[in-house]
Amino acid sequence: MERRMDARQLKIAAAQAALEHVSDGMRLGIGTGSTANEFVRLLAEKVHDGFRVQGVPTSEQTARLCMELGVPLFSLDELPELDLTIDGADELDGNLNLIKGGGGALLREKIVASASTRMIVIADESKVVETLGRFPLPIEVMPFGLASTRLAVERLAATLGLSGEIVQRPDRDGPYLTDGGHFILDASFGRIPDAEALANGLAAIAGVVEHGLFLHMADAAIIATAAGVRMLT
Ligand code: 5RP
Repeated sequence: MERRMDARQLKIAAAQAALEHVSDGMRLGIGTGSTANEFVRLLAEKVHDGFRVQGVPTSEQTARLCMELGVPLFSLDELPELDLTIDGADELDGNLNLIKGGGGALLREKIVASASTRMIVIADESKVVETLGRFPLPIEVMPFGLASTRLAVERLAATLGLSGEIVQRPDRDGPYLTDGGHFILDASFGRIPDAEALANGLAAIAGVVEHGLFLHMADAAIIATAAGVRMLT
């Protein structure tokens, strides 16, 4: 119980530090996940005190929390260019390359981050790895042709010397469905020495909608540790 509270405190500390990078009037991409939720809660307190922000959520779940707490929301079509996105990550390396999508929002997260001038990642130190791949890589795929797409992913992995289980993400009553109505394959490849080659290969598979490798996208990461918060740039 006590451990869980500690983990939450770290998320709050990272979120609090991220808030210092948000200026009045900013167009802001708002991430998904438990760390991003802490950011939304703190942002909502500032909005309540008169701080102005125009938020674009990266998932229906984040949209619900923002609406509940009074954070003003816009669609990406209304605000196609954003100043900053604050989002969590499942894993990050020292070069600020990320694995995202544990919460299933990778497609919208990547679109929103791509539309932003800057992206800042918020995470606790347990997410930092030397080489990406400890966390299973989420791959968002079209339901149509699932078996062929999975086969193509397996063949690509083999050519890159990667192996490991690829499982379709389940939900309570069937397959997990993303906000876009797609499936997710979670690929437990282990260490991914050439993330660039894997990202390019996945992007070239017709049935792959998007993958959770966010390479060269983050500008900084705020890492919360028991000893305090540090910034990776
Ligand atoms: C959602 C994500 C999240 O950012 C990621 O899963 C981290 O979540 P949490 O802060 O709960 O650990 O990519 O798709």
